[in-house]
Amino acid sequence: MTGDRIQTAYLVTGTTRGIGKALAAEVAARGQRLFTLSRAPEGPVAGGYNYTCDLRYSDQIDQAMARVLDALGRVGCREVVLICNAGVLGPIGFIDTLPADRMADHMQVNLLAPMQLMGCFIDGSRSWQGARRIILITSGAGRHPYAGWSLYCAAKAGMDMVMRCVALEQQTRPDGVSVCAVAPGVVATDMQAEIRGADNADFPNRDRFVQFQASGQLSSPESVAATLLDLDAGGQLVAGGLYDLRDVVREGDAAVIAPRATTGSRSGDG
Ligand SMILES: NC(=O)c1ccc[n+]([C@@H]2O[C@H](COP(=O)([O-])OP(=O)(O)OC[C@H]3O[C@@H](n4cnc5c(N)ncnc54)[C@H](OP(=O)(O)O)[C@@H]3O)[C@@H](O)[C@H]2O)c1
Repeated sequence: MTGDRIQTAYLVTGTTRGIGKALAAEVAARGQRLFTLSRAPEGPVAGGYNYTCDLRYSDQIDQAMARVLDALGRVGCREVVLICNAGVLGPIGFIDTLPADRMADHMQVNLLAPMQLMGCFIDGSRSWQGARRIILITSGAGRHPYAGWSLYCAAKAGMDMVMRCVALEQQTRPDGVSVCAVAPGVVATDMQAEIRGADNADFPNRDRFVQFQASGQLSSPESVAATLLDLDAGGQLVAGGLYDLRDVVREGDAAVIAPRATTGSRSGDG
């Protein structure tokens, strides 16, 4: 990579809606370099550039990542951050009601795609000079079981463990990539609307999530995006750390957070 005119480049997946859309807007608002991977048409987006990619298909991920990494390698950035945000909740339902093909799609988007993206990013950025970080957007559902969410809970628990393994791998490398996972809390997006719209028979905890909304407990995607970028820019997210944004405290203007679990200190900072 050359030059240092722009400090940080962010590559964010799933930016058409919800948290990802808010993250893209926040990156652009902060004047950082934005690259997005989404199912939206290829081309310029506000403050950045979108590469079309359906995360259900590994060949599309390979092709899109080759092109993004080529572009990232040519821009002048001091550090690069991959945020694996895209995800799906459904199908919701007890395991004996779930079609096998939809199970496979779910695990592909929520677990295998982030793994492939991590591998592509780590390999393709090996020769870069600046710091490299990966933030996986996980969920409290990776730590807590829910009837009807076996796919989602399993995928997020898997994501958390992949993060911890890869963090250990990267600790063995001199300029390893810093990898962590962050659960955003309960956020007012389409995903929460999908939860509230579920059938009680498929998701017996549905009323609890209806109550979250009724009692104003949902965070906005915009506040989640701003907090996440504050934590990242402030060096709060250490390698191997598993975080939950509901643990954030504000000390003056700074966002501060302690990990729920960690495998070691932050690495890869240039
Ligand atoms: N909302 C919450 O309360 C909450 C809580 C815990 C964790 N999370 C996590 O936060 C992340 C974002 O969730 P959200 O609430 O913002 O969800 P959302 O509003 O439903 O948005 C999901 C995003 O993922 C993208 N996506 C889904 N399948 C894709 C595919 N096959 N290829 C490419 N992109 C795909 C969607 O793109 P399309 O428009 O193309 O479908 C969309 O941009 C997820 O990882 C989710 O698990 C959310």
